[in-house]
Formats: sequence, structure tokens, C-alpha cells
Amino acid sequence: MIQTNTYDPEVLSVVEAGLSKTPKRLPSWLFYDAVGDKIFQAIMRIPEYYLTACELDIFKTHKERILQHIVKSNEAFQLVELGAGDGTKTEVLLDYFVKKKVPFTYVPVDVSQDVLEQLIVRLNKSLPALKIHPENKLYYQALEDLNNDSREKKLILFLGANIGNFNTEEAVGFVKRLAANMNNQDQLLIGFDLKKNPRLIQAAYDDAGGITREFNLNLLGRINREMGGEFDLEQFSHYPYYDPETGVTKSFLVSEQEQEIWIEAMGKSVHFDKWEVIHTEVSQKYDLKMINRLADQAGLQIVDVIYDSKRYFADVIFALREQ
Ligand code: AVJ
Repeated sequence: MIQTNTYDPEVLSVVEAGLSKTPKRLPSWLFYDAVGDKIFQAIMRIPEYYLTACELDIFKTHKERILQHIVKSNEAFQLVELGAGDGTKTEVLLDYFVKKKVPFTYVPVDVSQDVLEQLIVRLNKSLPALKIHPENKLYYQALEDLNNDSREKKLILFLGANIGNFNTEEAVGFVKRLAANMNNQDQLLIGFDLKKNPRLIQAAYDDAGGITREFNLNLLGRINREMGGEFDLEQFSHYPYYDPETGVTKSFLVSEQEQEIWIEAMGKSVHFDKWEVIHTEVSQKYDLKMINRLADQAGLQIVDVIYDSKRYFADVIFALREQ
């Protein structure tokens, strides 16, 4: 392998900061490099990871209900998806809206040009009649620009319990920023994973096949690949933990040994005590009270709460609160 010495400055600075902290902490967006994207695709298919199937169930069963909220007349609208992902769930809605000849534009927003291009190629094949207007931007920037460029109303999608990667306080800040870029007739649909039997949640993040373990360890793999790190993945284990009181799932990487890990891009080694952990992810679970509080604090009102048949998951539609 040819070793280059150009390191992504953002990755370098967050890794350096996160591994210098006590306790050590790395942001979960680092999971999603090309390898991590693949592993997450696999996670969405593992039997213990119920989230994806639940939201798919909601879309299949309630696509007309969702449509009714956004089309009051035959006005054109924009279906804006924050974090385009792989789009399989959204495709259920897109397919239905296209077949019903609803006038709308699909606006997938993602910071990864790669992800957008793959999505467009796929949708051009499966839904040639679909109008797509991709936005290769940060979420807030895209929403701000859409507001300036068009009068059309928007249904903004933030799916897959991605909101769970924020703690409850950060989620308020995030939703407030989205709300600041919404007009009175716009709506926001957020997918929340709900509190349920703690053992089911625990298992979703600790699957028997070890895919989630691989996903978590890929963070160290990524540091090895991109930053000349020398982590031995065998010396770390995956430990997720769900707290039913707060609804927080946290994932950790646990150092099985005392060790010094050289990271070329940092020009130094990082010390790990035996059993020291790196906190790598938060996956917040919600109940209806918490969702109401989020709406209150962000200046929104709840328009509808749509559950899957098992009530494991909810897609909640919000609008600006009437003054
Ligand atoms: C993509 C953030 C919704 O928290 O459930 C899956 C990521 N992490 N298994 C989640 C994830 C471990 C996932 N989200």
C-alpha cells in the first residue's frame, strides 16, 4: 500500500480531541466511511435490528395518511430528505406519490456526493418519472437555500431514528434549527425509536451475528486506514448498554489490555489502561412524553403520531406552533 500523508483535517482534529479526553469519546458520524456504510446496510437486515422493518411497515401501511397531511389541494410540494441514506424506505413513499401523480419534487440532502449519485442512479431506473433535485449540502444550508429559492411547501423527512444520535438536549437544538427554516405550511416528519422491552433494545445493539460489533470496531479500522493508526482490533471489544430509565443506549469500545497505540497522523501514541473505554455512540429512545417535550421546547406542535403495528417505532409529523 502506498502511504499518503494527507489526512482529512476534520477527521484528524476530532480523533485527536476525542482520544485525548477523559473519558475518551469519538463522534458517531465517524462510523460512516465507505466500509461503515456497507456494514450499516447489513445492520438494517439483521433480525435483532427491528428499527428499519418498523419504519418500512409504517410507510407501507400509512403512505396515504402521510400524503394527506402534506397535500391539502393539488399544489406542488417538495419532499426533502435529510441524510439521503440508501432510500429503500423512502422509495415506498416516492413510488406511491409518483403512481398517484402527485405533483412533487424529491430533494435528497446529503453531505456525501457519492451517496447522492448512487441514489439518483437507482431512482432513475426504478422511478423514471420522479423529479429529483439533489442538494449536496449541510442540512441547514439546504433548507435555507430551499426557502429562498421556492415558495413550494415542504415535507421534511428525518428518518431511521437518526435523531437518536443526539442526546435529548442536542435534539432540541437540532430541531430548533430545522424549525427556523420552516414556513407555516411546512411539515417535519421525524422517525423515533420508542422505549420498549429493554432486552429487545439491548439485543438490537448487540446482535448474535456480531455485525454491530464489526460496525463499532470499524471506527478503529478507519483510524488505521486513514490516519496510519496501529490499532489491533482483536484487543478491543464491543459493549453496548441500554438504560431503561433514561432511554439512552450507549456503545463503547473496551480496551482488553493496557496498550499504547501509535497514530501516525497525530505523530504520537495514545495510552489505554486495561478496561478503559471509548464512548462511540448514543442511540436515544423516546416515549410520547419526551416527544411532546421536544416539540414544546423547539416551538413545534405535533400534527400526527404514526406507529408501526408493534408500536416499537413512531414517525411523528410536526408543524410550526400556531401563534
Ligand atoms: C443510524 C443512528 C439510527 O442508532 O440505531 C445501528 C446506528 N448503531 N446499530 C442507531 C446504529 C448501531 C443507528 N442510527
